[in-house]
Amino acid sequence: MEFVDLITRKKLGQPLTDEEITLFAQAAADPTSADYQLSALLMAIRLNGMDARETAALTVAMAHTGHVLEPDVGGIPVDKHSTGGVGDTTTLVLVPLAAACGAKVVKMSGRGLGHTGGTIDKMEAIPGMRVELPEEEFLSIVRAVGCCVVSQSDQLAPADKRLYALRDVTSTVDSIPLIASSIMSKKIAAGAKGIVLDVKTGTGAIMHTLEECMQLAKMMVDIGDRAGRTVTALVTGMQEPLGSHVGNALEVKEAIDVLAGRTKGPLLEVSLLLGEQMLLAGRLAETREQARLKLTDALDTGKGLAKLAEMIQAQHGDPGVCQDVTLLPQAAVQLPVTADQTAYLHAMDAQAIGRAAQLLGAGRLTKEDVIDPAVGLVMHVRIGDKAQKGDAIATIHANDHDKARAAADMVRGALTWGNDPAPPARLLYARIQKDYTEVFS
Ligand code: URA
Ligand code: CA
Repeated sequence: MEFVDLITRKKLGQPLTDEEITLFAQAAADPTSADYQLSALLMAIRLNGMDARETAALTVAMAHTGHVLEPDVGGIPVDKHSTGGVGDTTTLVLVPLAAACGAKVVKMSGRGLGHTGGTIDKMEAIPGMRVELPEEEFLSIVRAVGCCVVSQSDQLAPADKRLYALRDVTSTVDSIPLIASSIMSKKIAAGAKGIVLDVKTGTGAIMHTLEECMQLAKMMVDIGDRAGRTVTALVTGMQEPLGSHVGNALEVKEAIDVLAGRTKGPLLEVSLLLGEQMLLAGRLAETREQARLKLTDALDTGKGLAKLAEMIQAQHGDPGVCQDVTLLPQAAVQLPVTADQTAYLHAMDAQAIGRAAQLLGAGRLTKEDVIDPAVGLVMHVRIGDKAQKGDAIATIHANDHDKARAAADMVRGALTWGNDPAPPARLLYARIQKDYTEVFS
């Protein structure tokens, strides 16, 4: 079997055998294999697709190119993953809340990608925080505290690292089987038995249409099932930033505000929806209602915030940020963006909002860029809100005046206003498990 034969078969739209798929995954993890052959096969897959069996085989083969953990953490290891969004800080809210309810959360997260933020960059905004920990320390923190959030180790699914970098530069990111295998190979390698997926749909998501998101969610649930994991996927809205804060320290601040009970709204609501599924997956509740009661109790009694402080301390960070958010990095310039008419906000280009934050330095424009933890923006309006002319609709947090003005223009350009009232954006579109799909309208 030669690699070129795999390319030929996929070019002709034929399915690959499990053996051929294993060869592909091993080649991806082998630094001496040729980028051009891997890239050609990626494009053939992007154009001709892969069925459920092929995608599951690719996922398992990719997971097995590195360590596959079987963590002993004193309970069912659970994990959560979002396909990526803007102002999407659910991890920092729901991981401590779930741990405060007894969950054992083994969370491996990524850095920001394009216009979307990454949990690891956010965590590094906390003074002293360490996100690269040896496997043994990671697991012992999960055992002791109930949760730990670290960056993906190089030992986990190394095939994905190579393929992801090639996809980024060969226009093959937007392939449902390639996204599904990329995400699920890492989740399976990290050893979670219960996996909760947040598949984002809307202007700020990587897959925009609801139909594609439903397909992606179903495929990931199917892969997990074939690998013996319990997976629940929620399809949730990304028509506007989920929280009002976009940027690393700003999002940490918002998560702390939510856990302290100072901020309610969509970020809390989606965190609770995902948290319910985590408690069910960890067998810490029998019904969604029971799970929600536990989570809201952990919120109201401050146990969730205390758990976040405990996790930060275990990861060598300053837990004082949980009581005093001014200990987080702050930007020098705060520039208000004002409404130039009295109108209702009808739509937002959430990707453009993410790009504005990226331009300020909250995300990377090239792989080598160093991010500025302090910068970003805070939105003061959501879809459906009415603004009066002159109202502050956003505040830009910057360390550079020119960038602040450019970001303000991008935010203005991302908003569509109308004279008529508009409904708020939808939050929950679907809940998908094995043999079960619930679509909300
Ligand atoms: N996140 C991943 O880890 N992989 C993808 O392909 C897309 C999003
Ligand atoms: Ca800067």
